[in-house]
Amino acid sequence: MTKVYVLTNNKGGVGKSTSATNIALGLTAALRQLGAARLKVLLVDTDSQAHATLVTTGSREHDNNLYGVLMADRDQATGLLQQTIVASQWDSDLHILPASPVLEQAERELMSIPGAPYRLTESLAKIAPHYGAIVIDTHPSFSLLTEMALVAATDAIVPVEPRYLETVGLLAVMSKIYAIREGWRVPSLHVGGILVTKMDKRVKGHRQLLDDLRNHQQLGKLVCGVIPMNEAVSYAHHAHQSVYNYDPKATASEAYARLVSRLSRRLVSGGAQ
Ligand SMILES: Nc1ncnc2c1ncn2[C@@H]1O[C@H](COP(=O)(O)OP(=O)(O)OP(=O)(O)O)[C@@H](O)[C@H]1O
Ligand SMILES: [Mg+2]
Repeated sequence: MTKVYVLTNNKGGVGKSTSATNIALGLTAALRQLGAARLKVLLVDTDSQAHATLVTTGSREHDNNLYGVLMADRDQATGLLQQTIVASQWDSDLHILPASPVLEQAERELMSIPGAPYRLTESLAKIAPHYGAIVIDTHPSFSLLTEMALVAATDAIVPVEPRYLETVGLLAVMSKIYAIREGWRVPSLHVGGILVTKMDKRVKGHRQLLDDLRNHQQLGKLVCGVIPMNEAVSYAHHAHQSVYNYDPKATASEAYARLVSRLSRRLVSGGAQ
């Protein structure tokens, strides 16, 4: 079964798109290095802001995009999906299912379509066997599109900034994930981890919040990585580059590489070979 990572948190600006894009590219490189049988990685952008689409393809105006795939008749969805996926500008083995601002209207239109929450899952199931991994970026809300992304996923990774590390907010995100898993009968969906982003070790409050999180009875064991606050991320973002490409020695590049290395070991042992 292909692992499907979803980066989700209803809080905005916590590093979902940065993490989705850099994890996706990192996994592409890792699968190649590990000599996996399935080398390609698919990045699915379900956010109408289309930031992940923009930085990886250079445009957020793709005539064919996720909206068309979600609205298509069932018998045409797979064909349309294949026409919609594009190679990224970052790596020919990193493919993108682009988002578009028109996804904003999809929410309302999908409400009236029976089985709408499973539409993304159904489309991805047809192409998943071609990919070593799939990574999904989401909108900063628990909208229908985010719920569809969670239904399609196997591993939810929750990026969170140290200043937002109130355990109450994080527990609410966890409950949402568990509610989708139980209520919508998606037993394959697991919490893949809490990813602390924009960590500034010089700030006492950040260190305190990270310690509190690590010592938290339920949440502590879920921390899967810490990405430092690093201006290379913003520069890379503006240059539409991955942080590894912008500066492979940057602290954020090294932290994302460590996270990807942990994820990819599980990928290969889990069957991407
Ligand atoms: N580790 C980091 N160090 C410094 N800046 C960062 C880091 N991670 C992300 N940023 C910056 O923070 C901003 C928000 O990041 P990003 O777009 O990834 O968040 P998001 O959760 O996807 O936002 P949204 O909720 O709007 O989709 C961007 O300007 C990005 O460059
Ligand atoms: Mg985003």
